[in-house]
Amino acid sequence: MKRSRRMRQLMYLLTLIAIALVGCTTEQSMFDIKGPVAKTQLDLLWLSVWVMTFVTVVVVVITIFVLIRYRERKGQTEEPKQTAGNKWVELFMVLIPAILITILAIPTVTVSYELADETRVEDELDVIVIGKQFWWEFQYPELGIVTANEMHIPVGAKIHIQLESPDVVHAFWVPKLGGKVDNIPGRTNYMWLQADEPGIYSGQCAEYCGSSHALMAFQVIAHEPEDFENWIQQMKNPQTEPQSDLAAEGEQIFQQSCASCHAIEGTDYTGVAGPDLTGFGNRNKLAAGILDNNRENLKAWLMDPMKIKPGNLMIMPEEINEREAEALAEYLLNLK
Ligand code: CUA
Repeated sequence: MKRSRRMRQLMYLLTLIAIALVGCTTEQSMFDIKGPVAKTQLDLLWLSVWVMTFVTVVVVVITIFVLIRYRERKGQTEEPKQTAGNKWVELFMVLIPAILITILAIPTVTVSYELADETRVEDELDVIVIGKQFWWEFQYPELGIVTANEMHIPVGAKIHIQLESPDVVHAFWVPKLGGKVDNIPGRTNYMWLQADEPGIYSGQCAEYCGSSHALMAFQVIAHEPEDFENWIQQMKNPQTEPQSDLAAEGEQIFQQSCASCHAIEGTDYTGVAGPDLTGFGNRNKLAAGILDNNRENLKAWLMDPMKIKPGNLMIMPEEINEREAEALAEYLLNLK
């Protein structure tokens, strides 16, 4: 009696957890597809779900049938007739799995090659995606643009992606558009993506890479072609002049404390260890997608980055006080 009540409580708990997990998947749902790569991957997923469902149903039906048909009957004393080694049963048990595996293998192999296709036509866009502990760098070699944690693309175009990593293995994944492909040190992987509608698509590192792996997010921002052109122009001719005395004070601090690691297009700051900060004031998110980019969050990040993102490599020469953080935030949010 007691045991069955515990069982029931456990079932309720598991159901609640399942419902909660389903709720987690709205923003980064691979079922809400917005591009051809994600569609191909989802089709493959459904194919394997149907094959596995078929196997499960057949096994359960046979098990139930055998349990009922060959159960021990009242008054039965002898052992039932033994039928080991039936050659037809053996043959089916080899043939059916072989057919099912072939049904899964052919589209899987075809799709794997299709999605890693490197052939490109003129004018298609290349993006080098570098996963780092714990943020993302996006380089546009043909455009001479480098940015961080926000990958801007035009809609309806095939984007060729080269995946690299200087430190450990990361994985690039944008559930609504496609992925996950690993960024592996010493090796370049290739994939492509296409967004069918403009919008902001959340992405996430999908390979455990250290203490802040779960905090290594990014956004893919898909623009209409003319808006994408505007973004390119803005990134090539950014506004970098401090717009107030406080911002000018912030630039002084930046020059002393930050410029050796961060670059800003249109200035003398060319550090490469940290994220490129060109157009920082236009970014939606801060610290690789985990905080909204606003003054309060930026100050908190500057004053204690380790609290927000344990294990990050942001090295402060000394503690930044409230006043300095205020000035730096003013300067950075001015970069547009
Ligand atoms: Cu990078 Cu997990």
